[in-house]
This record gives sequence, C-alpha cells and structure tokens, in this order.
Amino acid sequence: MTTERDRILPPSLALWSPVVAAILYPWGLRAFHAAVAPGGGGTVVAVVWLAVAFALPLSCLALALPGGASSEAPARRLAFAGLTAPPLFVLVGVLAGLLHSPVEDIWIWPMLWIALGTAASFGKASEPAPETQPMTRLRIAHGVSAVLILLFVAFHLFNHLTGLIGPDVHARVMKFGRVVYRSRVIEPVLVILLLFQVSGGVQLAWRWSARPLDLAKAIQVGSGAYLAAFILTHMNSAFVSARAVHKIQTDWAWATGAPEGLLASAWNIRLVPHYALGAFFVVVHLVCGLRQVLLAHGVRRELADRAWGAGLAGAAALSAAITAGLCGVRI
Ligand code: HEM
Repeated sequence: MTTERDRILPPSLALWSPVVAAILYPWGLRAFHAAVAPGGGGTVVAVVWLAVAFALPLSCLALALPGGASSEAPARRLAFAGLTAPPLFVLVGVLAGLLHSPVEDIWIWPMLWIALGTAASFGKASEPAPETQPMTRLRIAHGVSAVLILLFVAFHLFNHLTGLIGPDVHARVMKFGRVVYRSRVIEPVLVILLLFQVSGGVQLAWRWSARPLDLAKAIQVGSGAYLAAFILTHMNSAFVSARAVHKIQTDWAWATGAPEGLLASAWNIRLVPHYALGAFFVVVHLVCGLRQVLLAHGVRRELADRAWGAGLAGAAALSAAITAGLCGVRI
C-alpha cells in the first residue's frame, strides 16, 4: 500500500524508472568501451562511464527502498529485476548468439524491458505479507544448501583472486580444484544445489518483496535476485554455450575473453559489471544471512550491523581485486 510519505516519485515514474535504467545500461557500457579504446576519452572519462554503467543497475536497489520509489509490490519487484540487468544482458547476448537471432541483442533488450514494465503496470499491488516469518522450512533449507555451496564458492573466488598473480597460477589452482568440483559425483550435486538455491531464493524474494523492506532486508533480497540471474546466466555460459555447443575449455582464457580481453571487446565489456557484482553480491548475500543469524541468537543489533558493514566493505574489496585481475592487473 502506498503512503504519502513513501511517495517520493509519482507511482508511474517509480514503476518505469528501473525499466529506463535497464534500457540505458548497455549504452553506458558502450560509452565505457569507447572511452577505453585507443584514442578514446582517457582515464577520467572511462572512470565516469564505468561508474555510470555500475550506477544504472545499482540505482534500482535504491528504488526498491521505501523512500526510493513506490511502496507498491510490482514497482518494488521491477526495481529488483532492474538490479539484475548485468547478468540478464549477458544472458540475452549469449542466447541471441546461440539461437542465431537476426535481431541484435541491443535491440532485443529494450523490447524485453518494455514488456516487463507493461506487465508490471498491470500487476496487482498485493497485500503486505503477514509480519510472521514466512516459509520457515524453505528458509532453513535455503540456509543449509548455502553452507554446502559456500564450500565451492569460497574456493572458486579464491581461485579467481589468484588471477592477480597470473594465469599460470590461476590454472594450477583450478586444476587442483577441478579434481573435486568437476568430479562425476560432486558436479551434478553442485548443479542441483544451485538450481534449488535459485528456485527457493526466487520464491523467498517474491514473498519478501510483497511489502516495504528496510535497507538490510532490501540488500538481502536484491543481492539474492542478482545471484539468481547470475547463477543461471553463468551456468548457461559455462555448461551450455562454452562446453556443450562451442566445445571450448572454460578456463582463464574463456573467463577473460582472450585474446581480446574484457575491456577491448565491445561484447566482452558487459562481463566486467556482471562478474564484479557477481563476486560482490555472493559475499553480500552471505553476510546478510549471517546478520540474521546473529540477530536471531540475541546479538545486539549495533554489533550485528557493525559486522554486516565490515562484511559489505570486505565484499567490495574482494570484488575489486578479482575484477582487476580479470582485466589484466598483476601484482
Ligand atoms: C568473478 C566472478 C566469476 C568468474 C570470473 C567465474 C568464472 C568461472 C569459470 C572460468 C568457470 C569454469 C571452471 C572450470 O572449468 O573448472 C566457472 C564455473 C562455475 N562457476 Fe564461476 N565465476 C565467477 C563467479 C561465480 C560465482 C559468484 C558463482 C556462484 C554463485 C559461480 C558459480 C560457478 C559454477 C557453479 C561453475 C561450474 C563449475 C563446474 O564446472 O562444475 N561462479 N566460473
């Protein structure tokens, strides 16, 4: 339900703002690509366009907050969808290639968002969910499965961090890890756990987004929405596009878009926010879960919030380091 206090933007503007942000996102990337190209605008211009490319999806998270947009559920859900623009744009690009689409992804993209905006504008403003904690069993299963997935993700992110030293070290660490996570038994289990995590997470996010959320909860739901899109996109890229269709190794060269690299290619540049926010939000999502656990065990809110803030800062630092390595920085 919308209250006057919440209504900082008129409802229709609140609803369409994430659509506009998502539609502009590829153009922000294009401007960034033009700025980093030889003879482009130089470092300052490149940094400004990179900031714009990140700010467009991230601004959707602000729109999902009670003071940031309408408190109607369809607008809030569309705002969370807008946050997932980086992985969705990668998915649209990969699918357009796989399906030999005669229409370029850059034109499919706005059509999809206009369709989503139109669907949301017909959506009903659902009643706020009851205050009691919903879906207890699913939430417990989501947490247990997260702990198992964490074993892989912790190794996977550490592996990518070693890219800062060089591709050889990254390859050696990956070779070691593959013995476990690409084994006949573990790999299917990992895939099933991730698909379960996505489907359960989407249900939880749908339920929570029925009512206004505070900052911590909006970040938890938003990071979960991003991860759902990221995981589906990433698995489609690795398992379907690379391994099954194009028969290419999913190694450092694949991840970094060699030989052109992530920055020099007009297509690959979309992987920069996609990967950076993927590494960031996976840690953020876990830290949000940890905050909930601390609060449930009677830890003072102030202390839990301090740990949460430190976790968010750590996630940003880790993501920046991994992304720098993927873009060619070495230590
Ligand atoms: C910086 C961000 C990331 C990069 C550059 C990246 C890159 C890669 C690469 C190169 C592979 C192929 C691995 C191999 O062939 O052994 C891969 C596989 C995979 N990644 Fe990521 N990844 C990133 C983040 C994530 C995150 C955050 C998750 C989970 C939430 C994830 C989940 C997976 C899964 C499930 C696989 C398939 C593993 C398998 O082959 O069985 N990745 N990724």
